[in-house]
Amino acid sequence: MTNVPETFRALVADRDGDDVRRALRTMSPDELPVGEVTIRVRYSSVNYKDALAVSPTGRVVRSYPLVPGIDLAGEVLVSSDAAVGAGDQVLVHGNDLGVAHHGGFAEIARVPAAWVVGLPDRLDAREAMVLGTAGFTAALSIMALEHHGLGRGDGPVLVLGASGGVGSVAVAILAARGFEVHAATGKPEEAPMLRELGATEVLTREETSAEPGRPLESERWAACVDPVGGAALAFALRSIRYGGAVASSGLTGGTDLHTTIFPFILRGVSLLGIDSVQTPMATRRAVWERLAGDLRSPALDHLTREITLDEVDAHLDDVLAGRGRGRTVVRVGG
Ligand SMILES: NC(=O)c1ccc[n+]([C@@H]2O[C@H](COP(=O)([O-])OP(=O)(O)OC[C@H]3O[C@@H](n4cnc5c(N)ncnc54)[C@H](OP(=O)(O)O)[C@@H]3O)[C@@H](O)[C@H]2O)c1
Repeated sequence: MTNVPETFRALVADRDGDDVRRALRTMSPDELPVGEVTIRVRYSSVNYKDALAVSPTGRVVRSYPLVPGIDLAGEVLVSSDAAVGAGDQVLVHGNDLGVAHHGGFAEIARVPAAWVVGLPDRLDAREAMVLGTAGFTAALSIMALEHHGLGRGDGPVLVLGASGGVGSVAVAILAARGFEVHAATGKPEEAPMLRELGATEVLTREETSAEPGRPLESERWAACVDPVGGAALAFALRSIRYGGAVASSGLTGGTDLHTTIFPFILRGVSLLGIDSVQTPMATRRAVWERLAGDLRSPALDHLTREITLDEVDAHLDDVLAGRGRGRTVVRVGG
């Protein structure tokens, strides 16, 4: 006897020659992958990696057909694992979810128990997905910078790709923690949103992606949250103050990094790598507790767009084209 429905709706991506086609389909539970925990998905969210997952050149998916959606939150329907019970409110992100294992853009998901995080008491499924993988990554980046020694009095913090998911959450968290935040964006029209989130200065992408005139530029920022990479990461390294650090998580601006060694050996600058996919479970839980607690940022909620499963497909094209704005949650069965 189980309360898992006999059919449910899912967005399925599949290879078609050189292309990847997406369609909303009806699936049955026996099409779900192996796992101890079956979840009724309430909310998922849209992340850049989901757009890569449905792009023929995205190179993040290991096998099709695939239900994309790299994060989800909902309620456990069935569990054969002692640590997870039916009725538990949970979230899942990272690991293989949405890249090699059916993900969150479906009404039902089945995952290994080892991937399941209990929702912190103070977060519901929607609030968790307003943050989602992007918010988790922003928090990991800020925690890494604070662990490096970043304090409020050290000077302004630069956030690159600030209108996107990781960037906008980083702006909101840093501002709420009392940091002076300078936000860089390729979308001048988003300056008011970034100021609303707490940025005090808005820089253009042209400035932060400029070709280097010299190996080091004037020291401007105490630290940088970088989900962009490429020329913007090189710019950040050239202009971070003595002893500062850059937390690097993303590649929307490119995967190559052209730098000299001078930021490292003359200014003691550190480059901190951020990975949300394989974060150990103890850290994962601790980050979510902090996101529900002292890193909570109420400013995010009303700037978040909510869409339904039917609207995800079209939205993914916008994200791939760099038109992502803040966070987008997907109401799957909410
Ligand atoms: N390391 C990890 O575990 C981890 C976890 C989550 C995300 N990520 C990575 O972090 C990056 C951001 O993810 P996200 O979900 O926040 O994405 P998103 O919401 O789609 O935001 C991406 C933003 O990147 C900025 N951008 C800068 N240069 C760009 C360019 N040349 N083309 C397109 N966009 C450009 C844009 O913001 P502006 O217009 O404001 O500049 C865009 O809105 C992605 O590369 C993603 O794969 C990594």
